[in-house]
Amino acid sequence: MKRSALQKARATYQPKLPIVLTGPVKAVAGKPTESVANQDEIKELFPNTYGLPELRFEKNSAPVVGKPINVGVILSGGQAPGGHNVISGLFDGIKKIHRDSRLFGFLMGPGGLVDHKYMELTATIIDEYRNTGGFDIIGSGRTKLETKEQFDKGLEILKELDIKALVIIGGDDSNTNAAILAEYYAAIGAGVQVIGCPKTIDGDLKNDQIETSFGFDTATKVYSEVIGNIQRDCNSAKKYWHFIKLMGRSASHIALVCALQCQPNVCIISEEIEAKNLTLQDIVDQLADVVAKRAAEGNNFGTVLIPEGLIEFIPAVKSLIAELNDFLAANAEEFAKVPHNEQREYIINHLSETNAATYASLPHGVARQLTLDRDPHGNVQVSLIETEKLLSEMVGKRLAELKKEGKYVGKFSALHHFFGYEGRCADPSNFDADYCYALGFNAACLISSGVTGYMSSVRNLVKPAVQWIAGGIPITMMMNMERRHGEMKPVIQKALVRLDGAPFKRFASKRHEWALNTCYIYPGPIQYFGPAEVCDQPSLTLQHEHKGKNKESLS
Ligand code: FBP
Repeated sequence: MKRSALQKARATYQPKLPIVLTGPVKAVAGKPTESVANQDEIKELFPNTYGLPELRFEKNSAPVVGKPINVGVILSGGQAPGGHNVISGLFDGIKKIHRDSRLFGFLMGPGGLVDHKYMELTATIIDEYRNTGGFDIIGSGRTKLETKEQFDKGLEILKELDIKALVIIGGDDSNTNAAILAEYYAAIGAGVQVIGCPKTIDGDLKNDQIETSFGFDTATKVYSEVIGNIQRDCNSAKKYWHFIKLMGRSASHIALVCALQCQPNVCIISEEIEAKNLTLQDIVDQLADVVAKRAAEGNNFGTVLIPEGLIEFIPAVKSLIAELNDFLAANAEEFAKVPHNEQREYIINHLSETNAATYASLPHGVARQLTLDRDPHGNVQVSLIETEKLLSEMVGKRLAELKKEGKYVGKFSALHHFFGYEGRCADPSNFDADYCYALGFNAACLISSGVTGYMSSVRNLVKPAVQWIAGGIPITMMMNMERRHGEMKPVIQKALVRLDGAPFKRFASKRHEWALNTCYIYPGPIQYFGPAEVCDQPSLTLQHEHKGKNKESLS
């Protein structure tokens, strides 16, 4: 692989570890835990891994003598900056347990385990990938590990390679599957530990114990750089409205933190739309109002940030999707036989009256997308829905009406962008490089402690890395029961944007000023070398959440 000058310089970066992980550790157990909801159901489904205590690593005065161990690793789901550092941290961690330990990577996601596709990750390979973005070291995939056949097939190769622990690096769905696999292997006495690591640029795998998922920091800094550049262009030419859709399947964390970093004219937060029970037309009216007010001041330009998952949060559409999910799960075969040009009519005729009316009111392209294949975890593929175009078209129509009524004088010219894939494989920021390395190294410590069904946890993240706290959280602690594919299933609860949380409150207190005035910030590119205030700051989401918690504890 030919490397760029930056890659070469970056390869020499030594990620920082929490001080506690730099020497021998012992795991100190807290109290037994409970799941966040549906305790009885989750306990029954996870008899071997429910109720385990939280673990925190502390310095061990005596050196720990370890035995060589073979470990497997899987990258699961969408790419997120820093995955390679989780793997290099894990590699260094197991080598510290014993220099003869070996690491095997399963190829192209969980499917590699089932299909027995793997490679050994040697020191030479690992060194090629330290501090780089991407998941290309072993590839990633979205195969859902859920059946006994898959688990048994996986166990065959784990036994063949004498692998005693498997680390699954993934989002909420993949870690849910990690918990199910851990439970199954514990139940049959397979002798394989399963450990999860919190990954996703979406930022929705977090809770009181997991402060953030890795990749969120870097991806949102990349998007903010580009949004800032667009804002500077927009403020120079003063002739376009930019409609910018941002990745993040469900939660609006990405859009919110980009708004805090860039101060656009408008940022839509899906969770607020749902809470206020707004319709698509309400959103369009509010947008048109901002455009008209800015035009009245002679400003025919602006920026609008739109979270990718918006459509699913509009209450009427949410209810439609819920019914469609159940209906399509039960009638998949019949639906597949309906000719393409009759599918719209077929759906309308089979839904309840209200949902049929919502379906019929949607533009054909959007409605069709809602009936297309879900991803293997049952999610509508929202990244394929062009909400940015839908909204700008509707705003254009509304402005034409306002013009006729004499309430709008201006020119509306819209440009569209979608930022998602651009940020998922960026070279990790210093924060993500350190956090990921620590998560991987910490996973090795969890393996060495002999536990299973835990997620690697590194906390206290607004402080310098040496002060971070390391340990493990039982995955069952994060679970509740939710409806998936028409059935109630145990899943990790997704963290949506909290409207009473400090990041949203900060945004809400400023957005009126940002809408009418031009208060853009231009964050510029991620910096890897230079002063700490430029290179090492965690995301504004973490910073505001931390300030919010401090305020709560003082009041
Ligand atoms: P994960 O939840 O697996 O981390 O993936 C998140 C994500 O990047 C979403 O933001 C986006 O909707 C989706 O992946 C896109 O999926 P794909 O990579 O399969 O196109």
